[in-house]
Amino acid sequence: MRLTRYFLPVLKEDPKEAQIVSHRLMLRAGMIKQQAAGIYSWLPLGYKVLRQVEQIVHEEQQRAGHIPLLMPTLQSADLWRESGRYDDYGEEMLRVTDRHKRDLLYGPTNEEMITDIFRSHINSYKDLPLTLYHIQWKFRDEIRPRFGVMRGREFLMKDGYNFDLTKEAALHAYNRHLVSYLRTYERMGLQAIPMRADSGPIGGDDTHEFLVLAETGESEVFYDSQIADLRFGDRQIDYDSVEECQAVLDEFTSRYARTDETHDESVFNQIPEERRRSARGIEVGQIFYFGTKYSEPMGATVVGPDGARVPVHMGSHGIGVSRLLGAIIEASHDERGIIWPEGVTPFHAGIVNLKQGDPSVDSACEALYRDLTANGLDVLYDDRDERAGAKFATMDLIGLPWRITVGPRGLKTNTVELTCRRTGESQEMSPSEAVARLQAIYQPVFDAAF
Ligand SMILES: Nc1ncnc2c1ncn2[C@@H]1O[C@H](COP(=O)(O)OP(=O)(O)OP(=O)(O)O)[C@@H](O)[C@H]1O
Ligand SMILES: [Mg+2]
Repeated sequence: MRLTRYFLPVLKEDPKEAQIVSHRLMLRAGMIKQQAAGIYSWLPLGYKVLRQVEQIVHEEQQRAGHIPLLMPTLQSADLWRESGRYDDYGEEMLRVTDRHKRDLLYGPTNEEMITDIFRSHINSYKDLPLTLYHIQWKFRDEIRPRFGVMRGREFLMKDGYNFDLTKEAALHAYNRHLVSYLRTYERMGLQAIPMRADSGPIGGDDTHEFLVLAETGESEVFYDSQIADLRFGDRQIDYDSVEECQAVLDEFTSRYARTDETHDESVFNQIPEERRRSARGIEVGQIFYFGTKYSEPMGATVVGPDGARVPVHMGSHGIGVSRLLGAIIEASHDERGIIWPEGVTPFHAGIVNLKQGDPSVDSACEALYRDLTANGLDVLYDDRDERAGAKFATMDLIGLPWRITVGPRGLKTNTVELTCRRTGESQEMSPSEAVARLQAIYQPVFDAAF
């Protein structure tokens, strides 16, 4: 993409309405525009990152054997009356009446609808286990939408639902989700710690939230510092293996890590004092096992091996796809702007032309742009007729992890400069070496894709 042809409405001034850094930077980098309280348009740069995050979620869900589908945003109130949640959900639910005076709602989550799909088509235990998921917009009429996309009213969520014959099988599905979530967040350059949590209106006993530690997080958390040293890394897990998934769950949940709702001082105080941490965190996902809470009232049953009909055991599992953009920025920025992790960056690299209009510099930039693109790299070429300082400031603000700077002086010795956004370190090298370096840098990112 050439910047002169792109739509990147960066702001020079700090927007007054933004209280936290991720919101400020998303506005300044021209990623989003607020349309109403808690409702945003995703401008091209923001949309590109949103799609990257979504793509990683899709890949990791499917790696774990989960099946994508797409349910609508609007739902019939009748389904929610069956589960009893139409009245329980309260003012967070946006209720709509159509021209025939039928009650609809903009889905805040999809347990009822997926249970309805299941009961319409599945009859036998032989069709289990089954996990279906979608990535769809949700609406929750939050009292205080704030912090940009972190607490929106309309927001994008991945929600998945498992259907199993027994509690044991459903707990395996729970564990499988925990493993796949660890992988998902790490691919986005994030550390998200699973913590024992409270189930809220979804219901059920077993639940973990995934939290990214950040001062601006809305959740208060308590944990054993040893948990922060754990990394999932690139281990290969057989998602069908009960033992392997259980072992990962045990490893990642055996140390104390809880949100304030489940925090227990007496248990916490058994940890050596120097390892006790209290901090704030951003909830980027949550997994639940809730047994037959929906299947029983809604009649989602299967015929078991003995011929008797039983309600299926279920769980639901959510990832805050749009909130993740805010969380990633909170975890990765500096005073000059965003620093995208390689796994989610909107462009792999930027090219800065220091002397636009100089034939040799222009043609060197064009050649680089062609070579990088031909090698599968997505590049933003700043071909504006602007001062170098302004070009650097834009690149730093929008946070591309790598920048290639091309100027007349370097070209005399066939060199360009490759700069790392995170460390600020620059190295001179030939254009072809810069291409090779970037290819090598991104190879692990490409390899991680499904
Ligand atoms: N208003 C929101 N804006 C953006 N993302 C959200 C919002 N509410 C929930 N999410 C994301 O969707 C995920 C799954 O939804 P879940 O039902 O667990 O939310 P929740 O526990 O009600 O969230 P919170 O406690 O932050 O209100 C959450 O972990 C979070 O990342
Ligand atoms: Mg939650």
